[in-house]
Amino acid sequence: MADKRRLILEGGDPAADARAFRRALGNFPTGVTIVTTAGVGAPAGVTVNSFASVSLNPPLVLWSIAHTSRSHAAFRQCEHFAIHILAEDQVGVSQVFASASDDKFSLVDWHSGRTGSPLIDDALTYLDCVCEARYEGGDHTIMIGRVVDFGRLEGSPLTFSQGRYGIMLDHPEVAGNARDQRRIERGLDELPFLTLIAKAHYKEDADLERWRSVAGYTPVGSKVLAGLHQSAPLTADELARGMYLDRREVEDSLNVFLADGHVALFDGHRFALTESGNQRRRQMIEYLSRYQGEQLVDIDPADLTVATRVLKGFLAGPDQQCGGLHIADHAPGVGTNFIS
Ligand SMILES: Cc1cc2nc3c(=O)[nH]c(=O)nc-3n(C[C@H](O)[C@H](O)[C@H](O)COP(=O)(O)O)c2cc1C
Repeated sequence: MADKRRLILEGGDPAADARAFRRALGNFPTGVTIVTTAGVGAPAGVTVNSFASVSLNPPLVLWSIAHTSRSHAAFRQCEHFAIHILAEDQVGVSQVFASASDDKFSLVDWHSGRTGSPLIDDALTYLDCVCEARYEGGDHTIMIGRVVDFGRLEGSPLTFSQGRYGIMLDHPEVAGNARDQRRIERGLDELPFLTLIAKAHYKEDADLERWRSVAGYTPVGSKVLAGLHQSAPLTADELARGMYLDRREVEDSLNVFLADGHVALFDGHRFALTESGNQRRRQMIEYLSRYQGEQLVDIDPADLTVATRVLKGFLAGPDQQCGGLHIADHAPGVGTNFIS
């Protein structure tokens, strides 16, 4: 049981604030898929997280596409499509198919599948489908596919929630086998070094997330401030690509910052921080250093120097790829805290 009641951030009639409604839905974590179809003349593909399995027998799946998507016409007419569940190292593929690029397929390796739909190489799972039915659902078209061929590769999935990419990690309270669980119950003393790192990361991330919420920063908003601080002016698309964020969430966040005066618009489509935006970012950095100071106050500086050296050695060690597995937010440079 949680020991504290959670803060209510927003709510009410979804029609009154569509962005708030989207943020509420974003609390449901999903995987990330790319849906492709051969199209007429040129293949079409979009990044999609509305995917769900429907039935095992017959093998049916569903997803939905916005009427505003440029690929809507292609999927509205298609007889076949293929769904690809992305792996944790495929954020770049997701960003390509979520972009407004006219040439998405030149940026990835692919081949034609059994139904003729393009199959993107190296996705964790592909589902080659015959289009079984379409239903109109508000501003989206719901597509039902009957899977006629599938493939499953080894690896871990990419995840998406609250506008950001993530990876799968065992929950620190349940991580490990029963023997490890007994060790956890006996306290921190007997935990292996790497489990301690994972627990420390989880604690830091949860603490910062709580502060961020109380201070009125959304996870995407914090990254937008960090991205604009690093280099500006930037377009929403550049920011989304550079910070590995969902463009729609970035646009929402920029609109809020524009209204609050934290961001200014240049040439009609580029954004930069204003003085109050810079101040807001400084506030975040100050909080971070205060937080770090408070957490480490009882630790001997000599111990801290050794611990820092050990952690750096571990991160620079031979297994770089596994090092990435301990970072909950995806992508190097995006980092796990709000100043990234
Ligand atoms: C993680 C993620 C999930 C998305 N899920 C959907 C979805 O389920 N349906 C949809 O229509 N668009 C979704 N989008 C947005 C489209 O990928 C995006 O609008 C894309 O530009 C559409 O391409 P198009 O305009 O070339 O058709 C998603 C974007 C991201 C980053």
